[in-house]
Amino acid sequence: MKRNALIMGASGDIGSACAYELAAAGFSLYLHYFKNQERISQLQRDLTERYPNQDFFMVSLDMKNLDAVPQFCQQLFALDTIVFAQGGSWYGLVSQMPQASMAELWQVHLETPVLLLQHLEKKLAQASLGRVIFIGSLYGEVGSGLEAYYAAVKSAQVGFVKSYAQEVATLGITANVVAPGAVQTHLLNQFSSEELGALQKELPLLRLARPEEIAYFVGVCAAEKASYLTGSVLNVNGGWH
Ligand SMILES: NC(=O)c1ccc[n+]([C@@H]2O[C@H](COP(=O)([O-])OP(=O)(O)OC[C@H]3O[C@@H](n4cnc5c(N)ncnc54)[C@H](OP(=O)(O)O)[C@@H]3O)[C@@H](O)[C@H]2O)c1
Repeated sequence: MKRNALIMGASGDIGSACAYELAAAGFSLYLHYFKNQERISQLQRDLTERYPNQDFFMVSLDMKNLDAVPQFCQQLFALDTIVFAQGGSWYGLVSQMPQASMAELWQVHLETPVLLLQHLEKKLAQASLGRVIFIGSLYGEVGSGLEAYYAAVKSAQVGFVKSYAQEVATLGITANVVAPGAVQTHLLNQFSSEELGALQKELPLLRLARPEEIAYFVGVCAAEKASYLTGSVLNVNGGWH
């Protein structure tokens, strides 16, 4: 069966690892980016070379721009899977967090994904199987001082997915969260090598996850055989709690 996925944040490290994982499983892909057109073009070229019989399209959206969602969705045709692998964090004390940064985290991690699902749910239901996969975070479960609002939106993703999974179960759509601990990506560029070294010492595996170690479980959730996995959080954190 021909499969088609939209990967939001495909220009990011976890998102591009998801693109390689799903392309290897035979998917054609809509590769979303926000600013990093160079990286997404390179990804598209590489995937097209490796998998010449599959289609790879680039699509762009600033997920702070809620009004742009309907037009964005008009470019998408057949679709059975959506991976939400976009977004960053905001680091600092709650007492110093600008309201605009709160709005951005909420929009990028939750509000715009929900708007996208409102527009695309029919397509997912029309495919004989539908898959919705959010990249959540361990922090959504355990919290994180200095990233309180980020942890809050990551918790909100779990609450949403568990509820949405119930709403769409009979439409043949599953919804799950893959929740990493610390992954070696651009998101961690804000930390010094000393800070990252100290973090790694705390981790049972003594190292950060590689993006492909997260993407593997996105592939599991997307698989046709994963039809009874829904409303779940897959904790892929190397035993870090
Ligand atoms: N790295 C970790 O340790 C870790 C741990 C747990 C969870 N996560 C989660 O994993 C997901 C991916 O993170 P990553 O580590 O792969 O980060 P990353 O490499 O920095 O990628 C971030 C992605 O988000 C996109 N993005 C940022 N702002 C956006 C906006 N306003 N509108 C649309 N897209 C936007 C970026 O697009 P452009 O680059 O094109 O602008 C990029 O594709 C995030 O949801 C993050 O919370 C990461």
